[in-house]
Parts: sequence; C-alpha cells; structure tokens
Amino acid sequence: MTCPRLIEVALPIREISAESVRDKSMRHGHISTLHLWWARRPLPASRAIVFASLVPDPDHPDCPKPFRKAVMRLLHDEVPPTLKGYWRGKKSKRDADPYKPYKGIPDSPRNRLLTFIAKWSPEWLAFERGEAEDQPPPAEMLDDRSLVKWETSDPENDQGRAVLGIARELVRLANGGQAPTVLDPFAGGGAIPLEATRLGCQAIANDYNPVAYLILRATCEFPQKFGKPGLRTKEEGMATKDASPSTFAFGHSSEKERVPNVLAYDVEHWANWLLDRARERIGHLYPPGKDGQPVVGYLWARTVQCSNPSCRAEIPLLRSLLVCNKPGKRVALTMTRKGKTKVVEFGIAKNRAIKETEGTMIEKGRGSVRCPICEQTTPVEDLRRAGMDGKLGERMVAVITDTPNSKDYRPVEPSDVKAFEQAKKLAETVERPQ
Ligand SMILES: C[S@@+](CC[C@H](N)C(=O)[O-])C[C@H]1O[C@@H](n2cnc3c(N)ncnc32)[C@H](O)[C@@H]1O
Ligand SMILES: [Zn+2]
Repeated sequence: MTCPRLIEVALPIREISAESVRDKSMRHGHISTLHLWWARRPLPASRAIVFASLVPDPDHPDCPKPFRKAVMRLLHDEVPPTLKGYWRGKKSKRDADPYKPYKGIPDSPRNRLLTFIAKWSPEWLAFERGEAEDQPPPAEMLDDRSLVKWETSDPENDQGRAVLGIARELVRLANGGQAPTVLDPFAGGGAIPLEATRLGCQAIANDYNPVAYLILRATCEFPQKFGKPGLRTKEEGMATKDASPSTFAFGHSSEKERVPNVLAYDVEHWANWLLDRARERIGHLYPPGKDGQPVVGYLWARTVQCSNPSCRAEIPLLRSLLVCNKPGKRVALTMTRKGKTKVVEFGIAKNRAIKETEGTMIEKGRGSVRCPICEQTTPVEDLRRAGMDGKLGERMVAVITDTPNSKDYRPVEPSDVKAFEQAKKLAETVERPQ
C-alpha cells in the first residue's frame, strides 16, 4: 500500500474557511485587483490544497521515515527563532511551540502538519472558550504563523518568509529533494498556479478563455520576467496630454532614474495615464456631493408601479437594504415616505443606526414585492408583465464615494441625477462600432 497524501486524510477546514472569507476583502497587493475573474478561488484554500496534495500523511505507516522526521524537526525541534512569538499591536507575545496541536489533540506529526497549515490564534481560542469578551478582528482569527494566513505571502514579513521556507523544504523533501511541477489545466484567475509557485514549485497554467489566459500571464509570468530593478527615463514619469504609450516607448530623454521594479513602475505609470485621460473626458459626469468626496459609482434599483389602483407608487426592487456588510462597517439604505406624497426617499444608515435590512422583494414570495407606501403586495405576474411591456423603471438609490481609507456611501443629491442625465445624453451621441 502506498502512503496517502495529507489531503486524502485531513484538512483544517474551519480555519482555512475563516481565512478564505477574509481573503475576499483583501485589496492591496491581492491578485483579484489586477482584473476581475468570476470563478476565482480564495488564496488560503488554494495554498492549503496545493500543499496538502504535495506532502504525504506523516502518521501513515507507509510514510517515508525521513519525511516524518523532517516534520518533527521543522515543526518542533528546530522551529526558527522568529516563529517563537508573535505581535499583537505593540505587544510581543512569546509562544515557543507555535505548531503544538490544540489541547486534547494527540501530538503527532500529522496534527503538527495540520496545525502548520492553519491554526486558530490564542485570542480566538480564548474567545471561543468564553474566556475573552471581545471577538478578535478577522485579521487575528488565525495564528500569525499559519501557512494559509494572508500576511505569510508578504515578502517583507520575516515570519511569513520563515513559514514559506518550512513549507518549501517539506514539499522538496516529500518529492525526492526537488519541488515538483504543478499543472493546472483549468487555471482561470490563477490562484492555484500562484500558490504552487509560492510553495517553490514550477507551475504550468492553462485556460481556453483568452481573458483568463492574459490574467494568468500577468499573474504567473510577467512579475518573474519583468519585475526587476531598471532604468526609466524621467520623461516617462511625466505624462503629457498628447503622449500615448507608443510615443513613450521611444521617448528620447537621456535623463534616467533607477526604479526598484520596472513592471510595478510601468503599471502604475500607465494606469495613472489612463486615469488622467478618463478624468479629462468623463470626470465632470461624477461631480462630488456636499461632502466633497470623489464619486466612484452609483447604486441603482429597478422599479415597478404598485398594483394597488389607489396607490400606484413607484416600488424600488430591492432584495435587501444592506449595501455593505463588513464587520464594523455595515451600511444600509433607508426608505421613508416623502411627506404625504407617494414618493419613497432613500437615505443611508450605518452600523447601530440600521433598523431595517429587509428589501421590498418578499423572501419566499417568488419575486413578488411589497409597496413601502401602501404595504400591498404586487404579485410576481404583474412584475413579469411590466418587464415584458418595457414598463420597469429605474431609480438611483445611493452614491458610492472614495474616502482616504475605503469606499463610503451617501444619499443621492440633485447634482447626481443631473450628471446622470448629462451622461445619458452624451452616450446617445457616441458612435458605436457596427
Ligand atoms: C472554476 S474555474 C477555475 C478557477 C481557478 N482555480 C481560479 O482560482 O481562478 C474553471 C476554468 O476552467 C476553464 N475551462 C473550462 N473548460 C476548459 C477547457 N476545455 N480547456 C481549458 N480551460 C477550460 C474555464 O475557462 C475557467 O476559467
Ligand atoms: Zn402601493
């Protein structure tokens, strides 16, 4: 009998899932911000499955002895000093045996390996036991020395480098001293080949979708090929109105400056160039509101006329009033009646001020909607008919703004509606390709 891979025996699913949920809200430095890919898998789950597929189950009787020994050496006897503690804010906490299995779980090589992949933090365990009142924030749910933790992939994080060093050594030892080649024939947004590369493997990624193909090249190939220090002419950093990428490629300024990463420099430079052009042409269609914050988007709802003959209000079709449901930053729309009219006014409520999250579309009502003015239900059949007759309307319900730290939401102001009307007119004059 041959030894099964670790993935065939066990995985710390709950811990990996918790970090995968957190992965969804990661932005800075995350490949998901490079280009939208609809089927993208979370990086923590991808890292865990690649690693657990490449190493054997060390508790199995057929596991090669040197691998079992290496697990105990790297995860017990010779844990690097940098992993024998962790920081919580400015406080350092000592914990010399980071991969010790949870209390009551046997201290075996398999359990050490699982703990290495993902382990709850001491703060989370204390909270779960009811010994701590406050739930730790998502970034502190997992132990900092966990392989799947987002911070582990930061090349400037000493602990992350040490953790990845151990993972790479284990992968090599499990595969005859050389990391194997990993093939992902359906690689999509590249989470699996990226994580295989992080674990020291050569990755081959394939996809028949041309968008995925380009994302894959930009994720797995270009950073390694072009992400190097180099020279850029100073002129390139000062885009002029008429300049285009081709004129820059042959820019003839002789003054050069050294940049640490020409790929990062070029991407940022040309992204800014594009943004500047876009701002020039359509920036006036996104006027800031009273708060002065730049506008980045508008939220809309389809509308249908209430089927109550004595009401006929315009009902916004909303499944939920929640527009943001992040811990500590919940934002919801509010609906109130404008005086004695049949018009619904939208506002914004945040966190504790949120009183209601249910939208107008009735859950389990198979698509029927409740009117916020008369409370009567408009059946799904009326809604369907209105759709087929082209009688569904639309309504701007909130505005998304860009604040220094994150996105924010504000109520619609007359200038927003005016800008939309202007944009609509402009769009009608734009020539469309045949
Ligand atoms: C579930 S997605 C993969 C997601 C990926 N693991 C990620 O993290 O983004 C499946 C991918 O398989 C690709 N695909 C489906 N059939 C294929 C085929 N016959 N050859 C190549 N790629 C294919 C699709 O284009 C899609 O990108
Ligand atoms: Zn009504």
